[in-house]
Amino acid sequence: MARAQKGYRCRECGWETVGYVGRCQLCGEWNVLEPYVRNPGRSTAAASTAEATPARVVELADVAGAEEDRFPTTIDEFDRVLGGGIVPGSLALVGGDPGVGKSTLMLQAAARLAAAGRRVAYLCGEESPRQVRLRAGRLGVGGDGISLIAETSLDAALEAARSLDPDLLIVDSIQSVYCEGIESRLGGPAQLGEAGARLLSWAKTTETATFMTGHVTKSGEVAGPRLLEHLVDVVLYFEGAEHGALRLLRATKNRFGATDEVGVFEMTGAGLASVENPSAAFLDQEAEQASGCAVTAVIEGSRPLALEVQALAVSSSLATPRRVSSGLETARLHLLLAVLSRRVGLNAGDMDVVATVSGGLRLREPAADLAVAVALASAIRDRPVEQGVAFLGEVALSGSVRPVGQPGRRLAELARMGFRACVAAPNTQPVEGIEVWPVRHVRDAVAMALA
Ligand code: TYD
Ligand code: MG
Repeated sequence: MARAQKGYRCRECGWETVGYVGRCQLCGEWNVLEPYVRNPGRSTAAASTAEATPARVVELADVAGAEEDRFPTTIDEFDRVLGGGIVPGSLALVGGDPGVGKSTLMLQAAARLAAAGRRVAYLCGEESPRQVRLRAGRLGVGGDGISLIAETSLDAALEAARSLDPDLLIVDSIQSVYCEGIESRLGGPAQLGEAGARLLSWAKTTETATFMTGHVTKSGEVAGPRLLEHLVDVVLYFEGAEHGALRLLRATKNRFGATDEVGVFEMTGAGLASVENPSAAFLDQEAEQASGCAVTAVIEGSRPLALEVQALAVSSSLATPRRVSSGLETARLHLLLAVLSRRVGLNAGDMDVVATVSGGLRLREPAADLAVAVALASAIRDRPVEQGVAFLGEVALSGSVRPVGQPGRRLAELARMGFRACVAAPNTQPVEGIEVWPVRHVRDAVAMALA
């Protein structure tokens, strides 16, 4: 028989220790350890294995669950990010800044599924049913087949959901629900952890697909929903550009599909609309005539996207001129400015330099280096880049231009967007509709672009 064991437990994150210490070693909070007596029945280390009920064992071959079980939301960009649709029994986290559109997306998906005859339970912990009804009105959603659970106690909500037996449960938001028996502030790490664990158990035992939304602040609150990432099957982050209506939904984890897949939406007066031609949305037709703009194509998830790098260089009155970037790392900006200075003779040492990427996208691949370098050169010289020409290539410290991965798909996308030529590394195979202008060195690329 196991003995009761005394110890201390952190009221914020649940960390346990036998001896008292002043600070929780897990979450780092001070004075949060409280004495407790571990229930002998729940003790892990001391429990006698003879008392445990044997775990359920199944043969792998006998496990049901085929690819066809997946159900699409019929929102194209959402399905793309999910890897084709929602998998029964999966648990997903949809994170993003407050106001980015998480609740809107969830309600639109709920409406599509309900229209296809699926049952959806929507736990509205943040808003009253009246507020949800108002949003549904704006979205043109009738509401048939969607049951609202207005409850912030997760146990009570799951009890209600059990009787509804839905195909999809939406928890909006994970920060607004609390678990009984956990003494911690609402939305605190201990509450989030427990709510995540209970939802995981609910999703797996009832085989109900479950989505939870979570607010992630720009500062990236460490103790926020991110601590649930390891236990969920799918993590989606909703990002918006600082201004403008474009929204990007990115899968950073997906046990049923490709990670880094990106869905592109536009926030309209009637909710989120899938953007069918993202490249067109990212290219700023008027900006192309101005100096400092260069176009490239990146691979986001499984598709190529054309986008534009915009740079501005103006004489600085500061002893240390400013370097500001959004959508690309400042370190990359410094590196390419150094290459331009040493290898091309274009010096921005007494200029403030700003570089941005269109549409709120973030450049993740060095394949965009050449476009950034050319945009910077164009800004420093204040001469526009030749129209209809795009750039592909990684730039080495020596100034040499290196080939990129999947050049054919990038070139095809640029051709589709009406570009007549692309400056790229030698031996890049051209595709129909676009010429390749081979260059070995960034100096040659700048000379061609600003001819
Ligand atoms: P919401 O889905 O409530 O954001 P979140 O759940 O991520 O906090 O979206 C709120 C924003 O979206 C708000 O600023 C209003 C805007 N919006 C529209 O522009 N059009 C619409 O049809 C809807 C429903 C919201
Ligand atoms: Mg919301």
